[in-house]
Amino acid sequence: MLVENGLQYDVVVIGAGAAGMMCAAVAGQAGKRVLVIDHASKLAEKIRISGGGRCNFTNLHATPSNFLSENPHFCKSALSRYTPQDFLSLVKRYKIAFHEKHKGQLFCDDSAEDIIRMLKAECDVGKVEWRMPCSIRELTKTEHGFLVHTERGVVNAANVVIATGGLSIPKIGATDFSYRIAKQFNLKIVEPRPALVPLTFDATNWEPFVPMAGISLEVDVETGVKKSKMVFREDLLFTHRGLSGPAILQISSYWQPGQTIRVNLLPELDVAEELISAKSTTKKNLANFLASYLPARLVDGLLAAHGFDGNLKIADTQDKRLRLLGEKMNRWELLPNGSEGYRKAEVTRGGVDTRELSQQSMMVNNVPGLYFIGEAVDVTGWLGGFNFQWAWASGVAAGKAA
Ligand code: FDA
Repeated sequence: MLVENGLQYDVVVIGAGAAGMMCAAVAGQAGKRVLVIDHASKLAEKIRISGGGRCNFTNLHATPSNFLSENPHFCKSALSRYTPQDFLSLVKRYKIAFHEKHKGQLFCDDSAEDIIRMLKAECDVGKVEWRMPCSIRELTKTEHGFLVHTERGVVNAANVVIATGGLSIPKIGATDFSYRIAKQFNLKIVEPRPALVPLTFDATNWEPFVPMAGISLEVDVETGVKKSKMVFREDLLFTHRGLSGPAILQISSYWQPGQTIRVNLLPELDVAEELISAKSTTKKNLANFLASYLPARLVDGLLAAHGFDGNLKIADTQDKRLRLLGEKMNRWELLPNGSEGYRKAEVTRGGVDTRELSQQSMMVNNVPGLYFIGEAVDVTGWLGGFNFQWAWASGVAAGKAA
């Protein structure tokens, strides 16, 4: 019925990454004839480099509130039908050793390659076929399905699943393919932006903080106000160009250009109150006092950068100055001038507008047989295994439906 020319498949998945491989395995195991096409020569490069090579493959505490989207309810259906426990059962079935690192984050004990091998084996069970490396020239709609024009010929597909991810890390093959296909079919796109990314500051303003590069400490970091306010308590890392570490990566997904971020360097201490009440009980100077809570190198740098003389005795410092110092410690306001961009971003925020898709199947409402899954879609997880959980869950949803 579909054969105009070339080979015929029930499902063609474009993108052999996390979501694409999961989708292909599920569709293949449901008896569908599945082909996966990728322009890269190796499978799932992002899984390979993820989690420092150990792949933080899910998060035990994943709920829809750990995801950003202009349509926050969209992810609920897929996430509830394929849970972290479901993926964990698969990992256990393949006897992959894993451990929980922090806040429900599950990592492989040995290597992220274990997850790639597992997904490949699941695809083999489903007799999935591969065409890679292979570039896609064009995707066209036919009366009954699609024609996928590749550099190695044309393929007929009843269903096409776009699983080509976002824009982060172009050097390992990220492209805007999913957005181009979305535009071709007149689908709305939520503007893509780098997320889970270090933030940068104006070089001149940042100069006093450069010597602090390498210092890491647990902080509260927040951005936004009222309803849009977000706070994370995680480690922050000073870099030569700005701030990084899990706290900053998390807040970067919520940060909008032009907005400030606020850092509480001592979240468990009201620094101004502590300094003022210490006036009558201590002979310490400002630097010594703060060094009992924070690394001395950080204290010296911060005092200098904020215009305080560390040698000044607390007792000799006006309350007004102590309050100002307290504010710099508990509510340090900074204005990033940007981020390290897609070169360093772990994910892309935004993507294909979920209002164009079915939340059950991930199929485009107005284009039967066309699906978008994974990072290509406007669903972005927090740091900590949430993005892979979305890749698995959306891949399963489309794999079952296609
Ligand atoms: P993914 O990017 O995995 O796959 C897309 C595939 O499409 C690739 O194989 C690519 O080659 C292919 N492709 C792209 N354009 C194409 C084109 N034009 N033609 C053909 N093929 C094309 N998440 C997490 O939960 N835990 C973690 O530990 C980490 N760690 C991490 C570290 C680093 C350094 C990065 C960059 C990212 C992470 N992530 C993460 C995020 C996670 O890797 C990401 O969200 C998922 O891989 C997204 O899965 P997808 O399948 O949607 O895209």
